[in-house]
Amino acid sequence: MKLLVTGGAGFIGSNFIHYWFKHHPNDEIWNLDKLTYAGNLENLKEFTGRPNYKFILGDIISADVTMPLVRDCDVVVHFAAESHVDRSIMGDIDFIKTNVLGTQVLLNAAKEYDKRFHHISTDEVFGQLPLNTKEKFNESSPYNPRSPYSAAKAGSDHLVRAYIHTHGLAATISNASNNFGPYQFPEKLIPLAITNLLVGKSVPVYGDGLYVRDWVYVEDHCRAIDLILEKGEIGQTYCIGGMTKDISNLEVIRKIIKILGQDESLIEYVKDRPGHDRRYALDWSKAKKELGYQPEHDFEDYLEKTVLWYQQNQSWWQRIKSGEYQQYYQKNYELRSRN
Ligand code: NAD
Ligand code: TYD
Repeated sequence: MKLLVTGGAGFIGSNFIHYWFKHHPNDEIWNLDKLTYAGNLENLKEFTGRPNYKFILGDIISADVTMPLVRDCDVVVHFAAESHVDRSIMGDIDFIKTNVLGTQVLLNAAKEYDKRFHHISTDEVFGQLPLNTKEKFNESSPYNPRSPYSAAKAGSDHLVRAYIHTHGLAATISNASNNFGPYQFPEKLIPLAITNLLVGKSVPVYGDGLYVRDWVYVEDHCRAIDLILEKGEIGQTYCIGGMTKDISNLEVIRKIIKILGQDESLIEYVKDRPGHDRRYALDWSKAKKELGYQPEHDFEDYLEKTVLWYQQNQSWWQRIKSGEYQQYYQKNYELRSRN
């Protein structure tokens, strides 16, 4: 099978490529990525030169780029997005361009060539839940996005649904909760906390820190996507959550501090994020019933393993923090285009 993976140089996309080659070593992967600040080819360096892996530098919004790739692949797995809520608050035009328009361009190509399409989305499209309730989001929860990021993702989900209903596109959607694990860009909460603590810096906690996320280990998310591609019913949406009971940001940070043997004085309360969603929680029973999905990675164990990964891969995140990782791409890409 030939997979066109968009956004494969980002956090989840690169973990997906690692996952896919481990479980389907003979498949072919074409990774189409624009290499924004979030794209890092170092995440995939072991695949450089592999005959069944190809990196294509390009923007999903360009039909000239996407049309021939979609035509020649078997399935599109669409991760590419602007993904950081804080950045969407500072400026949202790229969120609209990539998440909404970019998705439309890909959908149009998939419609043209009648291709299987899987769209990766987020639980943030459903808005927020109150604290201290058992309420969870599921596939029938109404859309109620509250940040420019989640509004743009909601727009992309609606477009996918429209292409399914209007054009009969063979598409599925997954709405996942907050992922954590290796290769996550160190401006998101967990890698930011780990990498700050590793250099003795404080960890910024927004507001009262009593915000709750449903954390899923990235490999569980990748396996869920594999199950959807194998067994998912066309036209359906699947919610993919993790193993955590409600855990606040403050508790997550305290756990990381404990793993690293550091002091809670490094917690720094800072101004809250505007429009900050209080709580997310996902009911993944449909994915369990229909696909046999259930998260296999315990939050506490894999938080510890994630901390260890950042400890053992200091040069990876230090090159990001210094900006050197973008030169890695330029050097390698120029070399390859000369050969
Ligand atoms: P990321 O920001 O780490 O990676 C995004 C990737 O997309 C980067 O490699 C970037 O270069 C690429 N990209 C951005 N704009 C592009 C464009 N116009 N054309 C081609 N490539 C482009 O994001 P992530 O955390 O890996 O998230 C991947 C997907 O999963 C996103 O769609 C996101 O909405 C969704 N998601 C993320 C989470 C999470 O916790 N990170 C949870 C649920 C869903
Ligand atoms: P983040 O990793 O940005 O993911 P999302 O906003 O998509 O959930 O943030 C996770 C939670 O951590 C969220 O409630 C915001 C909070 N947060 C902090 O308290 N401090 C920080 O420095 C960051 C980046 C996030």
